[in-house]
Amino acid sequence: MAANSDSTGANARSSYYVTTPIYYVNDRPHLGHAYTTVAGDVLTRWHRQRGEKVWYLTGTDEHGQKIMRTAEAHGVSPQQWADQLVEEAWKPLWEHLEIANDDFIRTTEDRHTARVQEFVQDLYDKGEIYQGGYEGPYCVGCEEYKTPADLIDGEGEYAGQKLCPIHKKPVEMLKEENYFFKLSAYAPRLLELYASDPGFIQPESARNEVVRFVEQGLQDLSISRSTFDWGVQIPWDPKHVIYVWVDALLNYATAVGYGSDPAKFEQTFPADVHLVGKDILRFHAVIWPAMLMANGLPLPKKIAANGWLMVGGEKMSKSNLTGISPQQLTDHFGVDAYRYYFLRAIPFGTDGSFSWEDFSARYTSELANDFGNLASRVAAMVGKYFDGVLPAATAAGPAEKELADGLAKAVAEADDRIGEKLDFAGGIAAIFDFVKQVNGYLTTQEPWKVAKDTSEAGQARLATILYAAAESLRGIAVLLNPVMPRVSGLLWESLGAEPVLGALADQQVTEAARWGLLPAGVTVTKGDILFPRLEEKKQDV
Ligand code: ME8
Ligand code: MG
Repeated sequence: MAANSDSTGANARSSYYVTTPIYYVNDRPHLGHAYTTVAGDVLTRWHRQRGEKVWYLTGTDEHGQKIMRTAEAHGVSPQQWADQLVEEAWKPLWEHLEIANDDFIRTTEDRHTARVQEFVQDLYDKGEIYQGGYEGPYCVGCEEYKTPADLIDGEGEYAGQKLCPIHKKPVEMLKEENYFFKLSAYAPRLLELYASDPGFIQPESARNEVVRFVEQGLQDLSISRSTFDWGVQIPWDPKHVIYVWVDALLNYATAVGYGSDPAKFEQTFPADVHLVGKDILRFHAVIWPAMLMANGLPLPKKIAANGWLMVGGEKMSKSNLTGISPQQLTDHFGVDAYRYYFLRAIPFGTDGSFSWEDFSARYTSELANDFGNLASRVAAMVGKYFDGVLPAATAAGPAEKELADGLAKAVAEADDRIGEKLDFAGGIAAIFDFVKQVNGYLTTQEPWKVAKDTSEAGQARLATILYAAAESLRGIAVLLNPVMPRVSGLLWESLGAEPVLGALADQQVTEAARWGLLPAGVTVTKGDILFPRLEEKKQDV
């Protein structure tokens, strides 16, 4: 079981700090970006319901050639382009998906750029940066110099050219005089870090890849560009702008008060979890810790890489979409089911394909039938047999004990998997095993038959069964709230829980297993259907 030290003792001042990547604003968000951001939100809400103080950060990465070229192609300045995308696409999607981030950092903000300059100046003053020259293949999609071994051979229209393995586009040969960070010097300390803390990079496959990469030895990192100017100026040589990845990684520090608010920084930094896609793992697991080591700052506790959502065997990307936007899916399935589906269907850390059929099947069987029907059946029976007033359980026996044990097991399992291991699929499965158990309990107990027994004992049994079912739903609402906040809120309302137990978001996960929290006497109402039947319209994927 997970320790809960943050809420109880030594660490009470510090925040559990979770970040997403800051996304490039060259285009609108797609399913892939939403995947990481929803995962972070579920993790955040879970830890809030452990009573921990949490800080959840997301934002946008707005400098560099990729953004500059996109803006140019649209005939606007990069700043105008970024402003428009952030306001019209990025922030509205996070709101729509009920992402409860505490801050949204944009790398063009002064609070960020000024601190990035200070950080880089510090490294320079410490002798960690030197001037040099570099020539090599560069991928603008990745904003990264590639090593020849990284590249793949082009085919068809790209025959004879070398391609970036992620973007499948030709790399460009770049030659520049610029500044270098002595990254190579940090290989031994990084390897030591990976060895001493096996949980630093998750999952294991990602960790192994990074270890192999660093074991081959690191090259120094070019950290400035002088052939374009869309970036943060190098303070001692304003002809150069800072390499967009150095600029971007620093958001995790600047957004929580690095160089501006020591108390906030102390309380929040370093991150407990940097969530990233595996495409940007090396930046986070190699370059970022080395930058922090070089400046004497504390290291993040975990870099957790999610796998890729795939389309036709390739990573889903801006140039290769399903043609389906997050909003199209939420229009059809609703926001709660959307948040649920990707985390439930794809083990975190593994690649997975989206399919409309799979989503529909899970919606219908798991959400509408198993969960939604259970909630409405129980509310309907309390309405019918007890006028909507939850009766007391005066005749509890082994069957109810089993249910209470099932809830305790679901709580422990989900808390360990979601809260500690970032195994969202496993955690949700544990909660839904309990949903199934409650359905099985009702099937076995047959309250609709017991209702016909009008003796005192029969009525006491009926009351006990319905109490147990409602109390189980109380636990389910608490456990599902981080994943599906709107629907869980509806259930909470239908159980009449808020007036006696308080707001759902304030319910502690660790308390959720305490059987009997929902008091008899609350008013149970049959609210809105949690998961309405899907329209029968056929969708092409
Ligand atoms: O890399 N499957 O931004 P980006 C799963 N600005 N996750 C996906 C995905 C997919 N098919 N496609 C995107 C950048 N993602 C940098 C980050 S951080 C200091 C700077 C998610 O817009 C995943 O989290 O290319 C991936 O790492 C991220 O979006 C890349 O977003
Ligand atoms: Mg990308």
